[in-house]
Amino acid sequence: MLGSRWRRRQTAVAGLLAAAGWLLFLAGLVQAQNSSQATTVPSEAKALNSILRQWGKPANVKQWNTTGDPCSGFAIDDSIQLENPAYNPFIKCDCSYDSGTTCHITELKVYALDAIGVLPDELWSLNFLINLDLAQNYLTGPISSSIGNLTRMQYLSFGINALSGKLPKELGSLTQLSSLSFATNNFSGSLPAELGNLTSLQQLYFSSSGVSGVIPSTFANLQNLATVWASDNELTGSIPDFIGNWTKLTDLRLQGNSFVGSIPSTFANLISLNNLRISDISNGSSSLAFIKNLKSLNILVLRNNNISDSLPSSFGDYQSLSLLGMLVLVSAIVLWWFFVVIGSLWFT
Ligand SMILES: *[C@@H]1O[C@H](CO)[C@@H](O)[C@H](O)[C@H]1NC(C)=O
Ligand SMILES: *[C@@H]1O[C@H](CO)[C@@H](O)[C@H](O)[C@H]1NC(C)=O
Ligand SMILES: *[C@@H]1O[C@H](CO)[C@@H](O)[C@H](O)[C@H]1NC(C)=O
Ligand SMILES: *[C@@H]1O[C@H](CO)[C@@H](O)[C@H](O)[C@H]1NC(C)=O
Ligand SMILES: *[C@@H]1O[C@H](CO)[C@@H](O)[C@H](O)[C@H]1NC(C)=O
Ligand SMILES: *[C@@H]1O[C@H](CO)[C@@H](O)[C@H](O)[C@H]1NC(C)=O
Ligand SMILES: *[C@@H]1O[C@H](CO)[C@@H](O)[C@H](O)[C@H]1NC(C)=O
Ligand SMILES: *[C@@H]1O[C@H](CO)[C@@H](O)[C@H](O)[C@H]1NC(C)=O
Repeated sequence: MLGSRWRRRQTAVAGLLAAAGWLLFLAGLVQAQNSSQATTVPSEAKALNSILRQWGKPANVKQWNTTGDPCSGFAIDDSIQLENPAYNPFIKCDCSYDSGTTCHITELKVYALDAIGVLPDELWSLNFLINLDLAQNYLTGPISSSIGNLTRMQYLSFGINALSGKLPKELGSLTQLSSLSFATNNFSGSLPAELGNLTSLQQLYFSSSGVSGVIPSTFANLQNLATVWASDNELTGSIPDFIGNWTKLTDLRLQGNSFVGSIPSTFANLISLNNLRISDISNGSSSLAFIKNLKSLNILVLRNNNISDSLPSSFGDYQSLSLLGMLVLVSAIVLWWFFVVIGSLWFT
């Protein structure tokens, strides 16, 4: 009696387990079908593999499939962002196209991997890219005008490479850009006027890029800029008045160029600035009156600008200002003291 009840209970449990197993199996089947349906556009997969092969930077097979479909595994895992340093080189994909059957490569990172070579033409066919990070490699040669194809781009970095030639005016077609970096390269020629079309731009980094000439008047449109690093180029002409209209600026670096004239009084509008660096303006004189309004300043560097007046009397109000010049002075004293001590030890 007791035995049969036990047996009946056992059968019921076994039945339940079997049913649950079937459900899991079916769910797995649906899942597998779904994920195996979404595949990378073959031309994009081919372009990607070719680019990485030319740079000698094959993907780590633990991170994504180079043999199978590249848009699989971590490339479509939403919990892992492109910036994650454990995945490099890396891509991210969007597989929502054609009712979830087609994947496009939307992000590509080859960051600080000593990739050597030119920018392969295949790169300009990845026109679903919104994020391309090729910073800190040894990429050479020019940026092709075909970059104008990549109109979905939002974050673009070529910083710290050895790229050369003129910047293509087609960069101005990437109107979704919010961040653009081509700093520390070996470009030549002037800034294309077409960059003035990039009205969504918030960050623009081009220090030590090799560019020269005047800042184009079309840059007056770039009113969303918050960060502009333009130091150590050969920019000429005067610092444009319209920069005073870039009222979202928090960080502006213009030192180490060949500007003439004066610091525009319109800089008084830049009340969000917390970092301002301007140096080596020749053939003019500048007033510091504009600084009165800049209460958020943290770092102020004004070297060799023929400033015609003294610091505003309200200077004590700048709670957070740490004059870099002061830092330099303190380090010089410490260094001097160090040598005196070493010297006296040496000679005794
Ligand atoms: C490679 O692809 C297969 C099938 O598409 C997938 O199951 C597997 O997770 C992928 N491997 C990696 C490392 O992404
Ligand atoms: C299959 O993919 C589609 C589109 O991405 C998605 O809406 C759906 O939830 C997926 N189904 C399963 C079972 O994962
Ligand atoms: C630019 O995009 C078009 C359309 O997608 C494509 O046909 C063309 O090959 C691309 N250009 C380059 C240089 O890849
Ligand atoms: C930079 O470009 C110039 C020509 O414009 C060339 O003479 C020079 O060697 C290049 N420098 C580097 C570091 O590539
Ligand atoms: C981009 O800028 C250039 C020069 O400033 C201008 O001639 C051109 O019409 C602009 N293109 C678009 C699409 O606005
Ligand atoms: C600043 O912007 C205002 C309004 O858009 C405009 O009227 C003015 O001419 C601009 N100033 C400069 C110096 O470009
Ligand atoms: C500065 O002014 C002097 C004298 O007027 C002129 O010779 C020189 O070319 C000017 N320099 C610049 C960079 O404009
Ligand atoms: C510096 O500014 C004064 C006017 O404040 C001017 O007379 C002088 O020529 C300027 N010096 C240089 C080197 O530009």
